[in-house]
Amino acid sequence: MSAVTSLPALDSQAWMQQRLERTEQALSLWVGVDAPAGLGEAMRYAVLDGGKRLRPLLVWAAAEAVGGLEPAALRAGCAVELIHAYSLVHDDMPCMDNDVLRRGKPTVHVGFGEAAALLAGDALQALAFELLVPDAAQEPLMTASLQARLCRLLGRAAGAHGMAGGQAIDLASVGLQLGEAQLREMHRLKTGALLQASVLMGAACNEAVAPKAWQALSSYGQVLGVAFQVVDDILDVVADSATLGKTAGKDAANDKPTYVSLLGLDRARAHADELCAQAHEALQASGLPDTRALAALADMVVRRSH
Ligand code: IPE
Ligand code: IPE
Ligand code: MG
Ligand code: MG
Ligand code: MG
Repeated sequence: MSAVTSLPALDSQAWMQQRLERTEQALSLWVGVDAPAGLGEAMRYAVLDGGKRLRPLLVWAAAEAVGGLEPAALRAGCAVELIHAYSLVHDDMPCMDNDVLRRGKPTVHVGFGEAAALLAGDALQALAFELLVPDAAQEPLMTASLQARLCRLLGRAAGAHGMAGGQAIDLASVGLQLGEAQLREMHRLKTGALLQASVLMGAACNEAVAPKAWQALSSYGQVLGVAFQVVDDILDVVADSATLGKTAGKDAANDKPTYVSLLGLDRARAHADELCAQAHEALQASGLPDTRALAALADMVVRRSH
């Protein structure tokens, strides 16, 4: 019997609730406070009161699996959520997907104007990196090398070789029928990179994490990241706007290539299940004694309704 199966079942609802509360409190304390000329309101509107907070939950789960430093995990989770929130603000703008509904509310550019949306995104991105480099008085246990490592992981995943690069491919692919390899690459970059970085930033919170565990968590994050976007493509077709909190049917309306347009619904669903199984296999190969929260999050990604 493996170490994992000998553990009692995790109360994943209670586990999530506790981490979500800490994350919300910290975000509310850190985001947009004292920003001038209405910028803070737009930043807080973009980040607070909404979102599943999957990325911070992945940071927490990975950090706990490796026995990582808690204050670092809190900051890393908030940082990656800020990059994600900024990416959504810009993704919704008229020059990109032109969406008016996000997290059940009018999008930031609808509520505050395009210039404010652009600037709120800019400021959220900068704040993400600022949170990762606290001074010793704020965070005495977070070493300079840990801060640098977290910044590098997040920078790589957010930029040209991650989210921003993937978004560029997405916009360049409107009206095209991509092959499976090209579509996977687009999803790996635009969405997968930040999700994988969430897992790796959590793992990095223990500076002595074993290479075998690091590799396994990297694989887990990579397949989970792609699975997440496959499910996002499916939900865009099968769910309604009220459930999603964003406008359903936008991919077809914007002529975007997706896993559903490539494979059809049934095969796209089967592919998401396959990726979820690969995520579980990676956890089993990690050698870590308790990966229950990571396992629960993988199931949540694939079974979610919004
Ligand atoms: C939506 O992400 C955008 C994608 C990367 C596909 P989420 O579904 O995680 O959005 P929130 O954070 O819960 O609103
Ligand atoms: C967004 O992908 C990925 C980002 C980097 C924001 P989508 O354009 O499919 O996300 P939604 O469906 O608008 O949330
Ligand atoms: Mg988009
Ligand atoms: Mg979009
Ligand atoms: Mg989508």
